[in-house]
Amino acid sequence: MKNIVAGNWKSNKLIDEAQQLFNDIQSIIRNVEKTEVIIAPPLPYLGQLAALSNSKLSIGAQQTSAFGMGAFTGEVTSEMLKSVGVTWVIIGHSERREGFGETNEVVRKKVRSALNNGLKVILCCGENLSDRQSNDHFEWVGNQIRDGLSGVSAEEMNDVVIAYEPIWAIGTGQTASSAQAQEMHAHIRGIVKGLFDETVGNHCRVLYGGSCKPDNAQELFSQPDVNGGLIGGASLQADSFAAIVSASEMQH
Ligand code: 13P
Repeated sequence: MKNIVAGNWKSNKLIDEAQQLFNDIQSIIRNVEKTEVIIAPPLPYLGQLAALSNSKLSIGAQQTSAFGMGAFTGEVTSEMLKSVGVTWVIIGHSERREGFGETNEVVRKKVRSALNNGLKVILCCGENLSDRQSNDHFEWVGNQIRDGLSGVSAEEMNDVVIAYEPIWAIGTGQTASSAQAQEMHAHIRGIVKGLFDETVGNHCRVLYGGSCKPDNAQELFSQPDVNGGLIGGASLQADSFAAIVSASEMQH
């Protein structure tokens, strides 16, 4: 099973810059073999960039609607994303949970909407600093996973990837140590095994996110339960993103 390196551009880049970055990444990573590369640009550019995507570089959305088509002003549905060539969607990012009121229940509905419409899901989880300091982080993340995956079938798990992104590591430059990442990834995999079975758990890719950079990616990706990364800041420049993809290519 291939590793995944996904770039979450968040709310960055105007269209010309986005096109340029996409072009640069596409040309640098054209020889990747062991890594699935995904980028998640801002919503208005999805169709344009998805039209240029290929087997080496696919396009993800940064979120989707919990609703279907209808009178939901401003919402963009999973059907719409699929129809413009998007293949992946990030769901439950901590910035959406904390800033836009996405509860585990909303996340669960969004996962359902994405899977029902043929999108693959990157389901995000992660604790804040006080949960870690009070040693509640395993329980917190476990609940996010159990709730987010509630109603998902074993077969549908082929289209679900989990991203562990400790909130205290996002955009802070303070990455989780490889031991902290491995410990939580093993915990997450154990939960997936418990919800489904050994095979589903072993096949489920668990990505690390949170200040993942060229200089720490290789160490993180070398952990047995780390199957790649979800990259924020370092995905905004082609060379640093490509260096992280190279770190993934060197695994196995
Ligand atoms: P940073 O890599 O900037 O810490 O962001 C991680 C992230 O939130 C990716 O979704």
